[in-house]
Amino acid sequence: MADDPEVELSSRCAYGTAAVGAMDLIHLVRGCTFDDFLLVPQLGVVPSRDPARIDLTARFTRGITLRRPLVSANMDTITRASMAIVLAEEGGIGVIDRGFRAGDIGPQVAEISAVKRTQHGIVADPHTIGEPARIFEARHLMARTGVGTLVVVDGARRIRGLLTERDVRFVQGGATVADRMTPREQLVMHEGTISLADAERIMTERKIKKLPLVAADGTVLGLITAKDLLKHREHPFATRDDHGRLRVAAAVGATGDFLERAVEVQRAGADAVVIDIAHGHSTVMERAIEQLRQRLGAVDLIAGNVATADGARFLLDRGADAIKVGIGPGAGCTTRSATNFGVPQVEALVQCRRAIADRVPLIADGGLRRDGSLVEALLFGGDTVMLGSAFAGTEETPGEIVLKAVLMPESQKIVRVPFKVFRGMASIGAVRDRLDLEDAAPGELETLGAEGLEVSVPARGSARTIIHDMLKHLCSSVSYGGAESLGDLRERFWSEPGRYLIRLSEASRRESFER
Ligand code: XMP
Repeated sequence: MADDPEVELSSRCAYGTAAVGAMDLIHLVRGCTFDDFLLVPQLGVVPSRDPARIDLTARFTRGITLRRPLVSANMDTITRASMAIVLAEEGGIGVIDRGFRAGDIGPQVAEISAVKRTQHGIVADPHTIGEPARIFEARHLMARTGVGTLVVVDGARRIRGLLTERDVRFVQGGATVADRMTPREQLVMHEGTISLADAERIMTERKIKKLPLVAADGTVLGLITAKDLLKHREHPFATRDDHGRLRVAAAVGATGDFLERAVEVQRAGADAVVIDIAHGHSTVMERAIEQLRQRLGAVDLIAGNVATADGARFLLDRGADAIKVGIGPGAGCTTRSATNFGVPQVEALVQCRRAIADRVPLIADGGLRRDGSLVEALLFGGDTVMLGSAFAGTEETPGEIVLKAVLMPESQKIVRVPFKVFRGMASIGAVRDRLDLEDAAPGELETLGAEGLEVSVPARGSARTIIHDMLKHLCSSVSYGGAESLGDLRERFWSEPGRYLIRLSEASRRESFER
């Protein structure tokens, strides 16, 4: 039968997908999640499945667009600065979790600053030093800020020279900055502002690594470094702000120190603030949005989580700039078994998407156990997907590697295997760390009503490799779907869902996903 396309097609129409329009989709997905469906391959139209050539652009919030629709979850075993940097370099974004002690805002701010500091376009406010300063002071400043080039200025912030790490290396005694700097007369500088492409041309022609930007009177306007320009080339899809810095988001709660925390993370440069609570369709959330909007002004506010049409409309009406969808699908989550509330993730996504159309972006949060589910999350409703367990155990996750003895089944030998911890943010461990309850008795901890798991996962390589694989698989999905881009695939899917959807039987699910 498989050899005869006519027979195959007609049998599929008869026994596979029903002819569903967008109106019927909501009924078709009732009670369903990712593994309930396959998508029907269509006539492929892309010449190549190369992620560099297929457009995967997605809206993260009203104000922020990503070239890749991937977001790393705000979990304390997943996203700190290293993970957020990789995500942003690869075109997605990371959300720094709020899993720090209540009132202890500094550590979260430090993670955000670390992301914002890694790369620049034009460094608008370079670190400066005066000519009379001693070399040991310059060394201290370099060590403290992690910056290898200081702009030497006079009292009116006019440029006098540049001082780099090389200039201060091995210098003893009482030498001053003026003794060691490259003076202004020997510098190549640019008057006014400049595009990065033009800056690169000048730096190549003049064989320089630093290009100070100055006003006509010599006042420092900024600094461009070759290192930053190289990073821009190396990561052409990176998610950057208007200054060329990587973008990063930060999570806050809806009670306790949330207002203060939000103000501080915004000050540190967070590009979006995620109000992250388990039940986002609530009066607690309503109050939090109101207060945060008042305090933060125009910052992009992401609110969640919800899993129903009413929940999504509720957040839309209260002015959320993106909505996080998912109650209970997460791998580290026990909400559904503990409370019996939740909505299967595909149904949740379709409900929310239908309720709000494209008035605000949706983040499909949780439940992605295999790369094939990515395209489903993005078709059924997600503009982007948020991933936690998919990145668990990678080099970029926080936490120590622990060696555990494991019995190898074939050889019956015990070997020591490296593991890292992955835990739900509502697990006892995560809640205890956040609430400073280290000394609490076990009984007290049980009454916290944990809704999360803590597990050890084998340590593995870089999250970058996982992201590259995901993007390749997503591009293959676009190709199988007969589309030219992710946006195109989404349009095709929603205009004719019945053309794509096959609801699986138990047997076809086994055939598809069990290996
Ligand atoms: P995955 O499946 O990618 O999901 O690991 C990540 C998402 O899971 C959610 N999350 C939790 N949900 N209790 C919950 O009910 C928890 O302890 C918990 N921790 C994380 C969260 O939405 C995350 O983005």
